[in-house]
Amino acid sequence: MRIYLDHNATTPLHPDVVDAMARCLAETWGNPSSTHAEGAAARDAVEAARGQVAALVGAAPDEVRFTAGASEANNTILAGVTRHLVTTTAEHPSLLAPAEVLEKRGVRVTRVPVDADGHVGACALAEALCPETDLVSILWANNETGVVQDLAALRAAAGDVPLHVDATQALGKIPIESGWDFLSASAHKLNGPKGTGCLVARRPVSALVHGGGQERGGRGGTENVAGIVGFGLACALARRDLRERAARSAALRDRLWAGLAALGARRNGAADAVLPNTVNAEFPGVEGDALVQALDLEGVAVSLGAACHAGSVTPSHVLAAMGRTPDQARGSIRWSVGLGNDEAQVDAALERVAMLLERIR
Ligand SMILES: Cc1ncc(COP(=O)(O)O)c(C=O)c1O
Repeated sequence: MRIYLDHNATTPLHPDVVDAMARCLAETWGNPSSTHAEGAAARDAVEAARGQVAALVGAAPDEVRFTAGASEANNTILAGVTRHLVTTTAEHPSLLAPAEVLEKRGVRVTRVPVDADGHVGACALAEALCPETDLVSILWANNETGVVQDLAALRAAAGDVPLHVDATQALGKIPIESGWDFLSASAHKLNGPKGTGCLVARRPVSALVHGGGQERGGRGGTENVAGIVGFGLACALARRDLRERAARSAALRDRLWAGLAALGARRNGAADAVLPNTVNAEFPGVEGDALVQALDLEGVAVSLGAACHAGSVTPSHVLAAMGRTPDQARGSIRWSVGLGNDEAQVDAALERVAMLLERIR
């Protein structure tokens, strides 16, 4: 029996999402920009999904701009920064990389440090601002540690400066608070399809992809109708089941953490203010990469922090930003539970960890 405990990398599609997408691909294949009935049906499907996404994030439907995922959304919002960006040292690569591009173009970028628990300090954020600051961009819930930032405090600290949050890991796991001006998300983190996401914009923001005026001029290119339909339904299901999912995830995650701690693991990141499904932990003296590979052979899928770091021995920049040594960071593993996991799986995974640790040690 394989046990998938890497839901922060991606999630399996919800069966209802698969059905809705399959139906859409077969029946609603029109171009949403066409004026005939086939086009109108596709347009209706896209607009219905827009409403479902808007409802989950607490926005108006016309503030939702569909993209090919959170990476595109993050790149879109950063492309509009011309003078000064304030962000943090523990961002996702899809924010770090465009921030570096901005720097090469002469834009000033200030990266506010995080503390040992992974939190961004409101005072440090306020101190980083200057009259030229165009945008504050914060990873709301960290993909590697699950640490959730205090959005209200950061909003207050940002003052009048527009605030962008990468809510990719938060969406579908915790309620989406208000206070942000721009929000990025990806469907595949909440049991929807890969290659679909959104930028929710409460203020004007220029298009990154120019084309035929789709998304009210906000993103050119014929819409990924089936992906958008899947995203919409994933959001509707998450909205309906949010509390129950969070409680279930937290119970499984806590069971997992209790077992890992009993085997000698040390936790990275805050124990509170953390996503209900995530725990990042180090077994001192154990090479994380070796354990991840051994677990995979034993049927357990986990990862070393971000999926895009998997296979690389470079220590996680997020854990380094939290003050972990390279050895501690290399020994750390991200465990993230989700839909489809149950207590028996968690117990079976822990048994395999115990067996492998004995072998490795
Ligand atoms: C926090 C965060 N932001 C952005 C992304 C990028 O999402 P996508 O690869 O779907 O564009 C991810 C995915 O790993 C993520 O976890």
